[in-house]
Amino acid sequence: MVTGADGMLGRAFQAILTKHYPSVMVYAIPHEALDVTDRKAVLRHVAEGYDFIIHCAADVNADRCEAFPERCHQIQVEGTLNVLELAAGSNSKMFYPQSFLIFSGGETPIDESTNPDPQSVYGRCKLEAERRILSAQPEALVVRMAGFFGGDEKDKNFVGKFTRQLVDLLKDGRSSYAVGDRVWQPTYTEDLAKNSLLLLDQGMQGVWSMGSVGEASFYDLAQECVRQLGLEARIQIVPASQDMISSGDVARRPDRAILSNERLISSGLFLQRPWQASLKEYLSRPWFQFLFSEV
Ligand SMILES: NC(=O)c1ccc[n+]([C@@H]2O[C@H](COP(=O)([O-])OP(=O)(O)OC[C@H]3O[C@@H](n4cnc5c(N)ncnc54)[C@H](OP(=O)(O)O)[C@@H]3O)[C@@H](O)[C@H]2O)c1
Repeated sequence: MVTGADGMLGRAFQAILTKHYPSVMVYAIPHEALDVTDRKAVLRHVAEGYDFIIHCAADVNADRCEAFPERCHQIQVEGTLNVLELAAGSNSKMFYPQSFLIFSGGETPIDESTNPDPQSVYGRCKLEAERRILSAQPEALVVRMAGFFGGDEKDKNFVGKFTRQLVDLLKDGRSSYAVGDRVWQPTYTEDLAKNSLLLLDQGMQGVWSMGSVGEASFYDLAQECVRQLGLEARIQIVPASQDMISSGDVARRPDRAILSNERLISSGLFLQRPWQASLKEYLSRPWFQFLFSEV
């Protein structure tokens, strides 16, 4: 079972399961079909007897979570407790995608032993959900993931927003655009789903960190998008200070947070790629041909 199945990560799990695990029966349940805060509706699935529950349902808008903390807690924590109750009733193993926003970025690189230090309501609720899962089900698998791109029109992270903005800039005839220098580890949702499913397939449990190879500022990433889309002659990306960028943020985010892949590497279960290679694959999807078809 995949909850929140029509989101960025949920879509990637569906795609990788279909491609690499064709014999697995997948129950991909989008938000419209199941609200995880509705305990009764969640528990109606007990009879299905799922082997695994990939719990992607969440409100990932950290700024909205800061403004509406009770709603954030309801979805992130109480929703997860409902899913956990379903897992207990149907004897399913839980998979939980954790966010790098449970860290402040003060200590980097971040590995599985780094103490979480969430700076936002979103991060605190996500951490509480992780702890509740692991205390109820120690054999659950939690993957702490870097910030990602994926999901085509559902991509609400930097690459999704920037490419849509790029179309508007080109339509307006703009030739330069300023992008900030916050550093992250842009990671493709399909690489995360593939690697997480390998861990599940190998019976792994507990906490694992996972992110692409390399790191990039938003500025580096924007430049690489422009280069890979063949638009360098039409628009120039210039660096903006982080102050300019973060002034719109309500929730605090680390300026730099890099997850270590050492545990994956030393276990021989490492499938991540350099972010540029994954970005190239992502930007070659039909969605981007459609998006840029008018410009
Ligand atoms: N985005 C990142 O960079 C990142 C990084 C690390 C980990 N993660 C984690 O990955 C998971 C998936 O995130 P994502 O980025 O794929 O987000 P997403 O695209 O917003 O997907 C989440 C899905 O959950 C749905 N949802 C929201 N509230 C729900 C509810 N009450 N019941 C059922 N479904 C609900 C959303 O539907 P609506 O669109 O209708 O709200 C959406 O389809 C989250 O746990 C997130 O913390 C994200």
